[in-house]
Amino acid sequence: MKKVVVFIETNFTGLDALTYCKEKGYHSVLITDSYERFLSWFPASSLSKIDQASEIINVNNSNDLGELVSVLKKFEKVDAILTFAEIRTLVTAKLAKEMNVKHSNSQAIEIAQNKSLIRKILAENKVEKVSSVIIKDINFIDDEIEMNNLKYPFFIKPLHGHSSIGASVCRNDNDLLNYKKKYIKSNQDGISDELVIEDYLEGQLVSVETLTFAKGQHAIIGVADRDIIHDCVEIGSSFTLDDRIASLAKEKAKKILNCIDYDYGSSHIELIVNDEEARLVEVNTRVGGSGHSIMMDLATGRSIVGDCIECSLGNLKFDENLYSNKKRGASWQCFVPNKEGIIKKLPNIEILQKMKDITNVWFHYQENEKVEDLKSNFSWVVQVMAQGENREAAKFNALTCINYIRENSLVE
Ligand SMILES: Nc1ncnc2c1ncn2[C@@H]1O[C@H](COP(=O)(O)OP(=O)(O)O)[C@@H](O)[C@H]1O
Ligand SMILES: [Mg+2]
Repeated sequence: MKKVVVFIETNFTGLDALTYCKEKGYHSVLITDSYERFLSWFPASSLSKIDQASEIINVNNSNDLGELVSVLKKFEKVDAILTFAEIRTLVTAKLAKEMNVKHSNSQAIEIAQNKSLIRKILAENKVEKVSSVIIKDINFIDDEIEMNNLKYPFFIKPLHGHSSIGASVCRNDNDLLNYKKKYIKSNQDGISDELVIEDYLEGQLVSVETLTFAKGQHAIIGVADRDIIHDCVEIGSSFTLDDRIASLAKEKAKKILNCIDYDYGSSHIELIVNDEEARLVEVNTRVGGSGHSIMMDLATGRSIVGDCIECSLGNLKFDENLYSNKKRGASWQCFVPNKEGIIKKLPNIEILQKMKDITNVWFHYQENEKVEDLKSNFSWVVQVMAQGENREAAKFNALTCINYIRENSLVE
C-alpha cells in the first residue's frame, strides 16, 4: 500500500515536498483552508507545483485540531504528518501525536513561537540572557518603556510573527515615533498585536539549519549567512558558512534546541553573532523558507525536504555527519527596489536564467504591479538562486544577476 504523507498547509519550500512524494510514489495529501493564501505567498510560476499533491483537502480551518482529525478518518492509515508552514507547526505537532505518527514536542513549538517566553526559558536555564518586555497594547508603549526603564537602542517586533512584518530597531525617540505612526494592526495569520521590546543585538545575522531525530540528536545541515537591509529585511543568503562565527552559532543552536526540549523535526534558528558569542533572534521549528531548502540541496547534494519526509517515515537514521560532505556553494539573493512604486520594467526571465550558474529565477511581482512595503520580505521583486564552486563564488554569481536586474528595471 502507498505511504500516505499529509501536509498541513505549505510554504514555498513545502511545494518541493509534494514533488518529492510524487517521485517516490507516496500518496501526498495537502490540507488547506485557503487557496488564496497560496496565491499571495508564492510566485505565480510555482503555483502549478501545488497540483503535484495526490489529493488536496479543503477544510474550514486548518488550525482546528478536531476538524483535522475528522478529515483524516477516511484514511485507513496515515504514515506521516508534516508542515513546512510556520503558521501550522503547532497544530501539526498535536495532530501527529493524536494520529500516532512521529511528532515534535508541541510545548517546544509553543515556546519557540513566543518570542518573549523563549528568552525567559533560555535565561532561566543559563543559556543566555537577552532582556525582553511584552507590550500588550501599542497605545501604552511609552508607559511600558518608562516603567521598565528601557534604553535605546532596542528592537521591537510582534510577539508572534513572521516575514519581518512589524520588526524594527529604535535608536531614538524619532524612530519610536515613526514606528508608532506606521504601526497598523496586521490581520495576517500568525502576526500578533502584542509586541516585544528586546535588547538590540549587534553582529552578523546567520541561520543554523538542523534536523532533529530524537532528544539531543541534532544533525546540523549547515550555517547560512544573511544579508539584510533596513536592519531587519532579509534579502539574501549563502551557504555553507564555515568559520568561527558558524561554529559559535552551531554550538548555541544545539544548546537552545536541548533547552526547549525540541525532540524531533527540522529547525531554522536565526542568531546574531559577535566576536564573543552567538545570541538568539528566533527559532522556527521547520525548514527554512524562501528558497532556503533549494540552497541547501544544491550545497549538500541531498534533498532536505526529502530527508524530513524520510525521517518522519522512519526511513532515515540519525547520523551527526549526514551533511558533512558539502559538494559546492549556493546562494539566493533578491532584487528590492530603492523606492516604493509601480514596476514599469523588468528584464526578460530567459536572459536571467541563462546567466552563469543561475539555477532558479522567481518573479515575485510582474510588470505594472505595485511594491508597497519595503520594510518586509514582501518587497522582494525578483529572487535568484545560484551555485558556485564555493559559497563566495555562488554569492558572487547571484549578485551579478541581481545587479543586472537592477540596471534593467524601472520602478516609479
Ligand atoms: N533583538 C534583535 N536585535 C537585532 N536585530 C533583530 C533582533 N530581533 C530581530 N532582529 C532582526 O529582525 C528580523 C526579523 O525578526 P525575527 O524575530 O526573525 O522575526 P520574523 O518572525 O518576522 O522573521 C531578524 O531577521 C533580524 O534581522
Ligand atoms: Mg526571522
